[in-house]
Amino acid sequence: MSTREEIILGDCIEGMSRLDAGSFNLIVADPPYNLNKDFGLWKETERKTEWREWTLKWLQKANRLLSDEGNIFVYGIHHHMCWVQCMMYELGLVYRRQIIWNYENGFAGYGKRSLNATYEPLLWFSKTDQYIYSPIREPYKSQERLKHKITKNGKVWEPNPEGRMAGDIWSFPTLAGRRFRDEKVKHPTQKPLSISRRIIKHFSNPGDTVLVPFAGSGSECVAAVMEKRGFVGFELNPDYVQLARDRVAAARQDAAGDLLTLPA
Ligand SMILES: C[S@@+](CC[C@H](N)C(=O)[O-])C[C@H]1O[C@@H](n2cnc3c(N)ncnc32)[C@H](O)[C@@H]1O
Repeated sequence: MSTREEIILGDCIEGMSRLDAGSFNLIVADPPYNLNKDFGLWKETERKTEWREWTLKWLQKANRLLSDEGNIFVYGIHHHMCWVQCMMYELGLVYRRQIIWNYENGFAGYGKRSLNATYEPLLWFSKTDQYIYSPIREPYKSQERLKHKITKNGKVWEPNPEGRMAGDIWSFPTLAGRRFRDEKVKHPTQKPLSISRRIIKHFSNPGDTVLVPFAGSGSECVAAVMEKRGFVGFELNPDYVQLARDRVAAARQDAAGDLLTLPA
């Protein structure tokens, strides 16, 4: 598979029809969630009745493009994710996990007679059981415990130097607040680079081209550059396309800078 780097202005459903079947090892889709966001050309309040039918259409196009060892990640919201998940089963995709993206900052308030929302579901499906995955490891919870010899079933247990296997609750902060003012741009639902990089790094191979049907401000495309992958993104709103292209150009420059400072 050759690597491409482009963010295309236009409808992803039309755009995906022009791409070759089975040509992507990873698709990261962050579509409109069917809430009340205004993306300029796509206003969620005006699309409520067609959202389910439209979701099936773009999922069908994405499914055609996924390689036999490919993974697809779809972001969504707890209200409506059930529909998306059923459609993915019906398309014959293989369920891997519903990941919980947990965030403790920037939670959405639903009023005093409800619960605050501190997570978003993230669906991981693959095309077959032979999917690309390089294990995610994270620090052991109790560093103190590791200082002593641990025996399990009579055998001495050695901790993995790279940490424990990650679970399916992923904690990454949203881009709310001053802490993220350098990363945050003018897009209503920008995803953090931290979570985007995890997906791209562990569920595709270096040099692959990642398909991003809903590029928005370009977070997944920027993450692809940072993880040495290519990307093909689609976005309806020309202002977001410009934003995404600018962010990608800055990321490319940083990547080139890193190369220059590598020891000989
Ligand atoms: C949830 S946002 C994606 C945000 C992105 N992950 C980021 O971090 O910036 C969804 C985006 O899809 C775009 N969009 C909506 N319908 C589309 C379509 N049919 N084709 C391409 N883009 C579309 C919207 O304009 C919006 O920017």
